[in-house]
Amino acid sequence: MNIPSRVKLVDVGPRDGLQNEKQPVPAAVKIELVHRLQAAGLTEIEVTSFVSPKWVPQMADNDEVMAGIQRQSGVRYSVLTPNMTGFEAALKSKPDEIVVFGAASEAFSQRNINCSIAESIERFAPVVAAARAAGIFVRGAMSCTVGCPYEGEIAPERVGYLAALMKGIGVQHIGVADTIGVGTPLKVARAIEATLQHYGVDDVSGHFHDTYGQALANTLMALQLGVWQFDTSVAGLGGCPYAKGATGNVASEDVVFMLHGMGVETGIDLDLLVDAGAFISGFLERKPNSRAATAILNKRAA
Ligand code: HMG
Ligand code: MG
Repeated sequence: MNIPSRVKLVDVGPRDGLQNEKQPVPAAVKIELVHRLQAAGLTEIEVTSFVSPKWVPQMADNDEVMAGIQRQSGVRYSVLTPNMTGFEAALKSKPDEIVVFGAASEAFSQRNINCSIAESIERFAPVVAAARAAGIFVRGAMSCTVGCPYEGEIAPERVGYLAALMKGIGVQHIGVADTIGVGTPLKVARAIEATLQHYGVDDVSGHFHDTYGQALANTLMALQLGVWQFDTSVAGLGGCPYAKGATGNVASEDVVFMLHGMGVETGIDLDLLVDAGAFISGFLERKPNSRAATAILNKRAA
C-alpha cells in the first residue's frame, strides 16, 4: 500500500458549508470561522464565492468577508469564480486562488451555472487566462463525477472528457467531486483514474460529500491511488443549493482523526479544529455533523 505520508486539507466550510444555510450568517461569523480554521493549522481555506447573489444569497457578502480576514502567512485563500463578472469582482479582494466549477453532467451544469458544459468552458477560458496573467493559481472543480441528481450514474469517460477540457484551458489543479455523496470506493476510483489520464496525481484532489456515509471510505480509496489533497468541511457543513437533499462534505475533523490515526501528517491541531466546528455549529444551533468531533466533545464534557 502506498499511502501518502502527508496530506493537505482545504477547508471548504466557509464556502461550500455555509452557501446552503437558509438563515443569514453575518460576515463577522464567517470571518471568525476562517480565523479559527487558520489557527487550527489549515493552510488553505475556501472562503466564499463570487456568484450571483440572486442564485446564492448567502455568499452576497463575499467582498466584506474577504476584506475582514486577517491573513496569515502560509495560508491560501480561495474563492469560486464562475465567469468574468465573478472574477473581476473577486480580483479586488486579492484571492490566492480561484476556482472555476464545471460538471460532468449536462443537466447539473444547466441547473448550477445556467449553461452547457461546452459553454461553461468558453466562460472559464478567459477567467483562467486572466487569473494566470495576474499570478493567481487556478483550480477547477468537477461536480457530479460519479452521480448526478438529475441524470443518475455518470460514466468515468465523462469525467475524463471534462478533465481534458479543463486541462486544455489551463486549469492547474482539478478536484474530483462527488456532489451528492452517492459514490462508493470503486466508482470514485474510476472517476479519479479517468482524471489521472489528464492530470498528474499531485494536481488532483478529492471533494466528497457524505450524504450516504461513504466519504471517509472514498477518501481512503483516493489516498491509496496516491491522492494527497482533499476538500473537507469543518463540522461537516455543506451542500449545494442545486443538489437538493445532498448533505455536507466529509467533516474535516473525521478526516483528520483518520489520517492522524494512520500516521499521516496534516499540520492540523484536531482540538482547535473541533473548537472551530463547535463555534460554527453553536451559531447555527446544531451539533457538529462529525463523529470524531462528537466523540471529542463528549470526552471533554465527561
Ligand atoms: P446567469 O443568470 O446565466 O448569468 O447566471 P448572466 O451572465 O446571464 O447574468 C445575469 C445577471 O447576473 C446579470 O445581472 C449579471 O451581472 C449577474 P443583471 O444585469 O440581471 O442585474 N451576474 C453576476 N453577479 C454576481 N456575480 C457573478 C455574476 N455573473 C452574472 N459572478 C451564474 C450564471 C453562474 C452567475 C449563476 O448561475 C450563478 O451564480 N450560479 C450559482 C452557482 C453556485 O454558486 N453553485 C454553488 C457552488 S458550486 C458547488 O457547490 C459544487 C462544488 O462544491 C463541487 C461539488 O460538490 O460538486 C464546487
Ligand atoms: Mg461541494
